[in-house]
Amino acid sequence: MSKPTVLMTGAYPQWDLQPMERDYDLRKLWLAADKDGFLEQAAPKARAIATRGELGASAALMDKCPKLEIIACYGVGVDAIDLAKARARGVRVTNTPDVLTEDVADFAFALMLAHLRKVVDGDAYARSGAWAAANLPLGTSLRGKTLGIFGFGRIGRAIARRAEGFGVTIAYCDVTRSAGSAFAYYDNPVALASASDIFVAAVAGGEATRNVVNAGVFEALGPSGLFVNVSRGSVVDEPALIDAIAKKRIGGACLDVFWNEPNIDRRFLEFDNVILQPHQSSGTVETRQAMGKLVRDNLEAHFAGRPLLTPVV
Ligand code: 8YV
Repeated sequence: MSKPTVLMTGAYPQWDLQPMERDYDLRKLWLAADKDGFLEQAAPKARAIATRGELGASAALMDKCPKLEIIACYGVGVDAIDLAKARARGVRVTNTPDVLTEDVADFAFALMLAHLRKVVDGDAYARSGAWAAANLPLGTSLRGKTLGIFGFGRIGRAIARRAEGFGVTIAYCDVTRSAGSAFAYYDNPVALASASDIFVAAVAGGEATRNVVNAGVFEALGPSGLFVNVSRGSVVDEPALIDAIAKKRIGGACLDVFWNEPNIDRRFLEFDNVILQPHQSSGTVETRQAMGKLVRDNLEAHFAGRPLLTPVV
């Protein structure tokens, strides 16, 4: 039997490409100079799309794939996949939950500590020789602060577990109160921001959360507040964030995700109280290997007629 055609939207590591090239007729869309021409050839045959969280799969792409059976997403966030379209078409969708939770939560702390303890500034200071003239200005302690976690799912709760070890007070916001949690609960992000020194977005992207972190949230967070985003750029009203940073309405920001990745708004580059990262919260060898394996295991299960491991649709 011929190998199923899998349309891959973006780059995967070599350790995934190798087995996928062996098992499938793999079509690498991101490498094509003429994407439309490439899709004209590959899409009609595609029985699967292997995508990445930030790339997803639009209704238009699905329309080009009449034989599509499954979309396997390398990432937990499926907000860039048109799930309604997939449901209507009977196309299955899988993601990679759990395997990335701990590394993303770690990275939220890497960002917070880097900002509060001036790790990036300190590195530049030591390298430039400025240290010889004066000591680096003092940082801010994480201990004793209130950390507001917006989105209390797997990643939000993993952030809370770490926060307890750092001696911070935890508060959270989600659509419902988390049963069995003693942390302070807020039913909206503005109220959470008012109570927080640090506000970390760990909420799922998508229409329901688009722009919910807005001017009101930044106003409530205040001039010494720190905003951290390890979820999706779409949850933030980015012009409002840029305005809040420029006018010093918040103390700073640590951003791993943006509206228009990888072509981020150039105004962010001008701010010295912002740490910018290239969407790498889940970017460790260990986690990315586990994510890739889960994508491959889901595809294998689908084509073998077995239950999917981590179905979304
Ligand atoms: C990945 C992500 O960086 O899990 C997600 O939703 O956005 C990240 O873990 C991304 O999917 C890899 O392309």
